[in-house]
Amino acid sequence: MKLDDLDLGRVPRHIACVMDGNGRWAQAQGLPRTEGHRAGETSLFEVVQGCLDAGVQWLTVYAFSTENWRRPKDEVRFLINFNEDILLRRRDELHAKGVRVRFVGRRDWRVPKRLIRQMDESTELTRRNRKLTLTIAFNYGGRAEIVDAVKQVVESGVPAAKVTERTIAKHLYDPEMPDPDLVIRTSGEYRISNFLLWELAYSELLFTDTPWPEFGRCALFDAIGEYQDRERRFGGVDGG
Ligand code: FPP
Repeated sequence: MKLDDLDLGRVPRHIACVMDGNGRWAQAQGLPRTEGHRAGETSLFEVVQGCLDAGVQWLTVYAFSTENWRRPKDEVRFLINFNEDILLRRRDELHAKGVRVRFVGRRDWRVPKRLIRQMDESTELTRRNRKLTLTIAFNYGGRAEIVDAVKQVVESGVPAAKVTERTIAKHLYDPEMPDPDLVIRTSGEYRISNFLLWELAYSELLFTDTPWPEFGRCALFDAIGEYQDRERRFGGVDGG
């Protein structure tokens, strides 16, 4: 689908992506899995551009989950270095495009200090940008996020009877982040895999067989088109 085919007045405000299938895509072509992640970088930046073009204001991507530490040591090391490398190589470009970069996830002992420094510097550099907020979920788990929020609530001493959904939401990793309108998972897996568990309560879920390295700007517009079809089918309640 092309940008012109979309109703630009009804674009999702927040899209979240599980960028799945990099490894399988590479293996299918006889390449090492790491080449799939490299190809995934190109897709990510196409999707960032697509969001900027369509006027999507928030994009959240799952770069490394709390479960990904279980992968072979070499791949874990590659993914950590790769994330750091992308930030170093491409943050000026993101900044020039008006993208605000943020991170969600646990900053525990497993995340190297150097990477944390790059994360903080990228966030600081881009903090005044407003076109698109790119939130990178690193060492992120949805259950861990809820646990961390509950810990803070308990520590704050709020009486149990006063705890509401709003109380939890205020203690999530980024309380300013709106709930996603659309969650996309690539590569034919029909699972949520611990991504944004609290936030996606009412999100439209879209699963596609396309592997992440083949997902780009056009595929993003297809997904937004499908989202708009779903809305149209169930719309009309408010508008009469
Ligand atoms: C899933 O593919 C993808 C990942 C675990 C990481 C993807 C990371 C990037 C594209 C880089 C993002 C970096 C930044 C800084 C945002 P998989 O390996 O699970 O594929 P498989 O399911 O085929 O094994």
